[in-house]
This record gives sequence, C-alpha cells and structure tokens, in this order.
Amino acid sequence: MLELKREILHTDHRDATVAVLQTCLYDLIDLALQGKQAHWNVVGTQFRSVHLELDEIIASVREASDDVAERIATLGVSPDGRAKIVGEHTRLKSFPEGLQTASATVTIYSDRLSSTVDGIREGIGSVASHDPVSEDLLIGIAGRLEKHLWMLQSQEI
Ligand SMILES: [Fe+2]
Repeated sequence: MLELKREILHTDHRDATVAVLQTCLYDLIDLALQGKQAHWNVVGTQFRSVHLELDEIIASVREASDDVAERIATLGVSPDGRAKIVGEHTRLKSFPEGLQTASATVTIYSDRLSSTVDGIREGIGSVASHDPVSEDLLIGIAGRLEKHLWMLQSQEI
C-alpha cells in the first residue's frame, strides 16, 4: 500500500484522530446521500421549500465530508469513501423507501442530521487531546449542521 512520508502527529495520536474522523466521514457521506433520496422523494404541501432546502443542506454536508476526508489525507492516511464500505459502517438509520410527505421528510432527515451531529460531538471530545486542528474542524462542522437542523426543525411546528 502506498504511504506518504510525513508526520504531523505521532503515530498513536494520528491513528486515534483518524479513527474518529473516518467514522464521522462515513456518517457525512451517508447523510449527503440520504439528503438526495429525500430531495427526490418529497411530495405534498411544502414540497418546494423542503426540496430546495435539502439541496442547500447537501451542499454543506458534501463540503464537510470533503474537509474531513482531506484532513485524514493531510495526516498521512488514506480516507475511505467507498460506497460499499460507507454502507457497512454508517451509524445512521437507512432512509425509508418510496415517496414521503414533506412533513415525514423533515422528521426523518432531522433525525439523520441529529445522529450525525451527535457522532461529531462525540468525536470532538475524543480528538481534543490528540489534535486540536481536527477538533476545530469538527467543531466548525457541528456548528453548521446544527444551524441546518434548527432551520429544518423549525418547519415541524
Ligand atoms: Fe435536484
């Protein structure tokens, strides 16, 4: 296996940090994919606003997954974004099959967004003592996703 020779962190700190980042990466890739499933299958009143809002969230989630994957690469490890492996490791519940009302879409996608944020927050605590740069990255992502969660959930009232 090819390996780049650079050492930003000592091996044990690097491996502990990458394990957390990779776990978050699986969830973020799945969250973006579930967002498109939701975007394509939403029906009913509020269709347009939910359909369009999902694409805004997906853009943000994809950017976050890119940043996390590139942080893993920066630390000298190969990021893994293969669909089959993501499917095996994601911590998110799978998105239900078929058309969903806008209301159900908001509820289901809020749950997936919330699970992703929970995983990232857990990750923040784990990497804090190993790598403050990765900690900062995860904090920024959690803040952006939490804002999306607020805006999405505000429609449920
Ligand atoms: Fe679209």
